[in-house]
Amino acid sequence: MTEGQRATEKAAGRVASVMQESRVFPPPAEFSSRARIGSLEDYRRVYDEAARDPESFWHVRAQTLPWMKPYATVLDWQSPTAKWFVDGQTNASAACLDAHIAAGRGDKTAIVWIGEPTGERRTLTYRELLAEVCRCAAGLQKLGIKPGDVVSIYMPMTPELVIAMLACARIGAVHSVIFGGFSSEAIADRNEDAKAVAVITADGGWRRGTTLALKKNVDEALKKSPTVKHVVVLKRTGQPVDMVPGRDVWWHDLVAGMPADTPPVAMDSEAPLFILYTSGSTGKPKGIKHTTAGYLVWAKTTAEWVFDLRDDDLFWCTADCGWITGHSYVTYGPLAAGASVLIYEGAPNAPHEGRFWEIIEQEKPTIFYTAPTAIRSFMKWGMQHIEGRDLSSLRLLGTVGEGINPEAWMWFHEVIGGTRCPIVDTWWQTETGGIMMSPLPGCTPTKPGSCTLPLPGVCPEIVDAAGDPVDQGEGGWLVITKPWPGMLRGIWGDEERFRETYWSRVPGKYLAGDNARQDADGYYWIMGRIDDVLNVAGHRLSTIEIESALVSHPLVAEAAAVGRPHDVKGEAVAVFVTLKGGEPDDLAALKDTLRRHVRQQIGALAAPDDIHFSAMLPKTRSGKIMRRLLRDIAAGKETVGDTTTLEDYTVLAKLPGNDE
Ligand code: WTA
Repeated sequence: MTEGQRATEKAAGRVASVMQESRVFPPPAEFSSRARIGSLEDYRRVYDEAARDPESFWHVRAQTLPWMKPYATVLDWQSPTAKWFVDGQTNASAACLDAHIAAGRGDKTAIVWIGEPTGERRTLTYRELLAEVCRCAAGLQKLGIKPGDVVSIYMPMTPELVIAMLACARIGAVHSVIFGGFSSEAIADRNEDAKAVAVITADGGWRRGTTLALKKNVDEALKKSPTVKHVVVLKRTGQPVDMVPGRDVWWHDLVAGMPADTPPVAMDSEAPLFILYTSGSTGKPKGIKHTTAGYLVWAKTTAEWVFDLRDDDLFWCTADCGWITGHSYVTYGPLAAGASVLIYEGAPNAPHEGRFWEIIEQEKPTIFYTAPTAIRSFMKWGMQHIEGRDLSSLRLLGTVGEGINPEAWMWFHEVIGGTRCPIVDTWWQTETGGIMMSPLPGCTPTKPGSCTLPLPGVCPEIVDAAGDPVDQGEGGWLVITKPWPGMLRGIWGDEERFRETYWSRVPGKYLAGDNARQDADGYYWIMGRIDDVLNVAGHRLSTIEIESALVSHPLVAEAAAVGRPHDVKGEAVAVFVTLKGGEPDDLAALKDTLRRHVRQQIGALAAPDDIHFSAMLPKTRSGKIMRRLLRDIAAGKETVGDTTTLEDYTVLAKLPGNDE
């Protein structure tokens, strides 16, 4: 048995006892003694203070932002419309940059960046980062971009991605970051919905040793994006691109000779800072809107509490800025808190499966925040990539994006954390702007698989479909009953959908869309989504988006997408497809074609893992697809011998009284 197998066995063995004994892991005493919030009593005191008088509580925290005009009112709450720090003005880039320089910390490292190709490394101090942001901001202004204009950003994880976000913030433009794995169709949809006036991209991006053709995807998307007048192109991979005269400009030409002291534009507290598209239960992604001051206070405060950030920390959040985690815990949270941030451009297995551990050994981050799906990959890849690596710089670990299974939690705790690092399992959403429930590492005893307790200012409740609180231990819908500064301020251009999705099923309360239960200690356990949203490798995908992508193929008559358990990705995408005009001879080739089609429509992350062909889809009498049955079939709990047997279920479903 190798060392790795032994460690995994040990971890696995411990999980069983953890589950049986409900073992809890108290915070290490040494950690507590130095933490911001160092005991459960402290936590309860702060929590009660926030609950008793939220406005005074947030007023105190908001003082740390650089106000260009003081606000008159902390909160104006006309459910579901919240305005925080009303009539005040500030600027997000000033909060993340100028404020630290003014405080004499300009020479502190803001970003340590590691490229995917081995040996590429850059560092930027806060002063250097500010200068880059100012040059980019001035360049964007020169293109005519004004406060309130939407700029799409479709870039690899380079410092320039963060610079582009902060440059938009500096001039009051609203950024809409589109993950580099999305297709040109997805870019076009987002450009159109947001009425983007410009796109910032790169020639290409590195991914697992090959390059993604980012500029080419943008060119394709722009055929359908009439509002976009400018494209800024960072030279990253050096691959050939077509530059359209008058529309396209190289990043290095745009910033050349630009001033390094572009002043930040004073923005209203409630001015939109960014839009981020996420999947809901319809085919059309939602542009989640976040505004300036409340979001910043939330991102900063939660980063300080949950990661217990200290001056000498090097904080590594492995998320891409294409997701909310990269917005709140690569960019705005840690930078507003004045932390040093480690960014790695590429895949965890490029050029080898030990890349993350090599980076930790070399760069010595103290905090490592990643996703359960990544942890499960590391477990699978094996101990040979970790053995002999010095991971002793780490003092705190975190997870986000989906629930973590206790086995992966124990492995993370023992193998990566050397049993000394607390783990913060953070529950939150694109919509919440920042972490809502999480252990505080200096005070909350942890239980593998639970996101434990709400942060101060967060008032969760678990209710039934009638909106009544369920009994303790029972599962139900997770709602948030009070406004918080980081909450979404709407869906871009769709007020009705905002009310309908989040505020109408349990009137007056924010419906998170997750099921949860609370245990006897009041700890929360997230139990998965209540809507047709899949969580594949920590990424939200809507079943309906995948279905509409499939039916847009000329051979597909009808499609149903469901999730099935997957040991690394958490969930895999399984689809059931009925074809127009009978089955072709080469089903394998058709599967490939359909996979490619979904990839082209949405992006690689949505490509179905399993494709089942069927002559009919099982439906209830009212015509609803029986998803629960399909989920069982996809998971192998129900066996269907060949592609036609689903019809039997259809017949069953049509019997009187059988409505799901
Ligand atoms: C899920 C990611 C369990 C949940 C920040 C949520 C989690 C959705 C956790 C939001 C967690 C996220 N435990 N489930 N710690 N974190 N989720 O918008 O279903 O990409 O509603 O935001 O991910 O995903 P989103």
